[in-house]
Amino acid sequence: MPAMEEKEELRHVAKGEVQTLGESLNAEEQDLFEASPAFKSSALLSYDQYIAMYNRSLQDPDAFWSEIASEFYWETRWPEENGKVHFENFDVRKGPVKVEWFKGGKTNICYNALDRHVHAGKGDQIAFYWEGNSPGLDASLTYNQLLQQVCQLANFLKDKGVKKGDAVAIYLPMLMELPIAMLACARIGAVHSVIFAGFSAESLAQRVLDCKPKVIITCNAVCRGPKIINLKDIVDEALSISLAHGVSVDSCLTYANEVAMSREKTAWQDGRDIWYQDVISDYATTCDIEWVDAEDPLFLLYTSGSTGKPKGVLHTTGGYMVYTATTFKYAFDYREGDIYWCTADCGWITGHSYVTYGPLLNCAKVVLFEGVPNYPDAGRCWEIVDKYHVSIFYTAPTAIRSLMRAGLEPVKRHSRKSLRVLGSVGEPINPSAWKWYYEVVGDKRCPISDTWWQTETGGFMITPLPGAWPLKPGSATYPFFGVQPALVDENGKEIEGVCNGYLCIKGSWPSTFRTLYGDHARYETTYFAPFKGYYFSGDGCHRDADGYYWLTGRVDDVINVSGHRIGTAEVESALVSHPQCAEAAVVAVDHEVTGQAIYAFVTLKLGVQYSEELRTGLKNAVRHEIGAFAQPAKIHWAPALPKTRSGKIMRRILRKIASKELENLGDISTLADPHVVQELIDLTDV
Ligand code: PRX
Repeated sequence: MPAMEEKEELRHVAKGEVQTLGESLNAEEQDLFEASPAFKSSALLSYDQYIAMYNRSLQDPDAFWSEIASEFYWETRWPEENGKVHFENFDVRKGPVKVEWFKGGKTNICYNALDRHVHAGKGDQIAFYWEGNSPGLDASLTYNQLLQQVCQLANFLKDKGVKKGDAVAIYLPMLMELPIAMLACARIGAVHSVIFAGFSAESLAQRVLDCKPKVIITCNAVCRGPKIINLKDIVDEALSISLAHGVSVDSCLTYANEVAMSREKTAWQDGRDIWYQDVISDYATTCDIEWVDAEDPLFLLYTSGSTGKPKGVLHTTGGYMVYTATTFKYAFDYREGDIYWCTADCGWITGHSYVTYGPLLNCAKVVLFEGVPNYPDAGRCWEIVDKYHVSIFYTAPTAIRSLMRAGLEPVKRHSRKSLRVLGSVGEPINPSAWKWYYEVVGDKRCPISDTWWQTETGGFMITPLPGAWPLKPGSATYPFFGVQPALVDENGKEIEGVCNGYLCIKGSWPSTFRTLYGDHARYETTYFAPFKGYYFSGDGCHRDADGYYWLTGRVDDVINVSGHRIGTAEVESALVSHPQCAEAAVVAVDHEVTGQAIYAFVTLKLGVQYSEELRTGLKNAVRHEIGAFAQPAKIHWAPALPKTRSGKIMRRILRKIASKELENLGDISTLADPHVVQELIDLTDV
């Protein structure tokens, strides 16, 4: 059974990793950073208040979350049977894993993110400041304007026959039309499936085939840094692949991004393709709300796992709404007047929860950025911070590390005095990057919220609350309300106190993902079967003497490159799609800027010679199958791969060879052919 193999591999890989966790953490565990007395005295919560709220969230989650949920608009309040507002079974031994929050309640997240604020008289407030790829190109929308544009698109979708529960694919860069499209779907109860606009046609097709959208929303092209990317060609190719597999998408709504490409140059299919600007303004600027059940699906977001096929993570409406809004508010110490900027793309979960829903539910002013942090130069982020007076800035360690390399000048030439709170997400932040972020970017004034969470968790799980307790560089610190982390050993036994273990979560929280689209069995085997009674995150973790949590990275076959989650199996299958590749094994190596990098061992078909051209061809195969962001940093020729007698690839050995830790290869006697190891070492620089 593939699921069993997945689990065994995971345990096997994890075993070696967990033993080395935390070895060098001791000095850093002592390193405490306190917020200033002024910050602390005005912070939303003190430590004591957090403890009181946290305890209550565990003792009486129903009452705790009901109270918070009551701050939102519900067309029909959820029924409370004997005070219970949620149901969960997290234990595969007790039957199907099932989670429900506020079921029976009827609401709409778009209504809560937009109409609610407009009705409260805040319609003229800015919702989005949009900053284009090139400096000088910008725009903004108030809540009123955003609502009108969302309604127009929602009306278009309805006109095209999109109904409650139907999927809509969105393949857009960071234009305002991206969150507009998400909100338009939510308004009519359609399920959005945003596909990051860096995915290739093959990947897009795979997702279209899985969720079968009636409509796809895209644009013709986008400028990213100095490059222009022709997205429409990618969509056309993806839709013809889908069609060949029996899935046809009726409408392709295409935003004409004429800064990047003229309409005339855009490939076009009459009858299917529609220019966004040609039709949208004809639709009414109001649109009735579709009231949906709290447990009706809100979106699908595909993510990578240990096996080849991407997983469609499904989030529902009510719990996700309540949790993303609450985590946003507390983890960023958000208050009215803050200008918030998260550099993530809406193609990933961070852009769903903390560019779109969490901030808008709080009526925040949000900066949307189309470009990249180092274009036209390494001062761009700080220029944008000064331009919009950004007070909360949220980014990924990889961006911090790459900006760090450019030195102090690009930072110091901008004042950054509006900054109040900083955030980090996507991968463990190394203490030196943390300190640079704190000292240089934040001038030692801004607490850093290092937020640990996942596509599956929907919202922050372990995160500092600014000013509530001292920070330690590299630690995500304490769990958010309602979250019960558990570190377990390889037998699934929970370990107490100071320890290293597999990070699991006990019980549900409102934004727990409810299933993997179309594959509930995989949901259970991947996340709930490895450690019975717990949700298993796939991450290793250390807990120190102060109870702080230190995330140490994935313990399964998932690689984190620049905060992008990539499955080794996906890259391997892309490599073997190359006609001259016989076999491939992919591992992660540490990388100074991207955190990890992809390192591929490739065995060629008999008689094929190594060449640089072939290396490029193999890398291109990955770009073609997945996207440029998944391209291996290194192709290492492998006459054969180290395998056990039962044919299993020993990745532990490959990881050591890739990171040149040759003195500590471990036991190689169980290999079918131990000579393979030396052959591989000899080919390191070939
Ligand atoms: O390994 C953890 C890492 O990113 C993984 C989740 O990836 P994804 O679902 O793409 O979501 C990324 C944005 C939430 C986790 O399993 N990760 C995320 N945040 C952190 C982190 N690792 C350490 N510290 C973090 N703050």
